[in-house]
Amino acid sequence: VNETHADHRDMREIPDLADMVFDEAFWDGRYRAAPTIWSGRPNQQLVDEVSGLAPGTAVDVGCGEGADAVWLASRGWTVTGVDISRVALERAAEHTRAAGVADRATWLHLDATADPLPGTYDLVSAHFVHLRPGMRDDLNRRLAAATAPGGTLLVVGHHPDDLAAGVPRPPIPELFFTADDVAAVLDPQEWTVDTSQARTRPWTDGEGREWTITDTVLRAHRHVPAT
Ligand SMILES: C[S@@+](CC[C@H](N)C(=O)[O-])C[C@H]1O[C@@H](n2cnc3c(N)ncnc32)[C@H](O)[C@@H]1O
Repeated sequence: VNETHADHRDMREIPDLADMVFDEAFWDGRYRAAPTIWSGRPNQQLVDEVSGLAPGTAVDVGCGEGADAVWLASRGWTVTGVDISRVALERAAEHTRAAGVADRATWLHLDATADPLPGTYDLVSAHFVHLRPGMRDDLNRRLAAATAPGGTLLVVGHHPDDLAAGVPRPPIPELFFTADDVAAVLDPQEWTVDTSQARTRPWTDGEGREWTITDTVLRAHRHVPAT
């Protein structure tokens, strides 16, 4: 569970959250507000979905403080971490140095809804990047375009059920998405969906309360074009 709870509690207390723009200044501000935001552990769905794949090149979009990139690099992947926040990227780079895998990691500062990812990768992974619907589709199209033929796309997020269940999350329903929302941008002629789930897992919040939370998990692979 790659998140903390004070974080969500704080977000729920921000006035006018519904109108808030989640841009570079917002994310830099969030990261600067605390020495560490996330748990430092790799995301469970990444571990579950990727452990069986042969390592190759990977990009982690919205990599945050780099726990997933460290895990991937430690398993032999050559990983590029992408984030809109330079503060996050500096922390991620430090974590890969501390883990002794900096030689397999590079960092890119860009807005993944606006800038194309450079090149294609065997694995394109994005966890908990929550955007408003139009921008979310822009992001997912760029993620798909960055997946090499034969490669894997993995998009994970908080499912809309979490809000209904009262899980402490920012109360902006449009930020949450299903696996079908992600799959909608994938051309079925070019893609096979391997996992499309709303997957529950236990989660304890910062006040010690136990929740069952739901992750959206979309894993798909891109066809190799016939020659
Ligand atoms: C909720 S955090 C998740 C971080 C990490 N993936 C994890 O699971 O711990 C979302 C991350 O996406 C980044 N992000 C948000 N919008 C982005 C964008 N348009 N382009 C690139 N990164 C973005 C944020 O800076 C933040 O680090």
